[in-house]
Amino acid sequence: MSSSAASHPTVQSHPSSAPDPEMATLYGAPTPTTAASPTAPTRTAAPAPRPRRRTTVRDLAAWKDRHEKWAMLTAYDYTTASVFDEAEVPVLLVGDSAANVVYGYDTTVPVSVEELLPLVRAVVRGAPHAMVVADLPFGSYQASPAQAMETATRFLKDGGAQAVKLEGGARVAPQIELLVSAGVPVMGHLGLTPQSINTIGGYRVQGREDAGAALLADALALEAAGAFAVVLEVVPSDVAARISKALTIPTVGIGAGVDCDAQVLVWQDMAGLTSGRAPRFVRRFADLRTPLRDAARAYVADVRDGHYPTVEYSYD
Ligand code: KIV
Repeated sequence: MSSSAASHPTVQSHPSSAPDPEMATLYGAPTPTTAASPTAPTRTAAPAPRPRRRTTVRDLAAWKDRHEKWAMLTAYDYTTASVFDEAEVPVLLVGDSAANVVYGYDTTVPVSVEELLPLVRAVVRGAPHAMVVADLPFGSYQASPAQAMETATRFLKDGGAQAVKLEGGARVAPQIELLVSAGVPVMGHLGLTPQSINTIGGYRVQGREDAGAALLADALALEAAGAFAVVLEVVPSDVAARISKALTIPTVGIGAGVDCDAQVLVWQDMAGLTSGRAPRFVRRFADLRTPLRDAARAYVADVRDGHYPTVEYSYD
């Protein structure tokens, strides 16, 4: 899921059992557009001591040991993957959020392996240094460890991904155990798990009060099963901090506070390409939507008026 403004759902910032009406969709799924939130100030990143070979699970384990934070971004195509690789993003996730931001579905439930596989191939071609994690879509791993193995094999063999991600707690431990024993690195995903939106009943904060203990138990089950990292989505910061401290593997937060070992955002949210009101956890590090729309408008107008292509853009 994980979450996008027109994109992401606006996550509730207060305890309540009712779904937030502003969080009716995730990951840039089509929604009515409202005013965009202000663009975050530009920031110059300090150079991080990251390997310029491809990131491995061992690197992530070492960064956890050294308390070094790292960032993950989603990517869905060759060009943006190459930009993010150039920016030294160490891990790229071909998320099932592609359901929303690439394919325009309302939820992540409908997206298929066939729809995600070409995106994984493109991202792998564009990113020679990032670890590429492929999301296993809904219905492609829940039935059995054997089903998970079959799907993961496609993403690693045909897609070229280095790892897979799947949603769920102790109930998917058998899947993780089989994959890991077969040599497939697995990232878990707890908290707000959008593939379960129909049972969760809405995009709301997960793990409050008594549910925090269950979330910790699930995180420990994923670690025991062999997961190399766990995404914590839309979880109270103190619960995420407790889980991050209890686990020896890194936690990757999205709406889970600053104490996670890593952070992830849907790239269209991070760069301000999505429209509409963003969930609370989204910070837009740029406002790409406005200049892109303006460029398209200028192109249309110049073609219409005969101002493009001029002689300098033409051949003798
Ligand atoms: O599908 C996705 O993009 C995700 C993350 C943002 C964690 O699951």
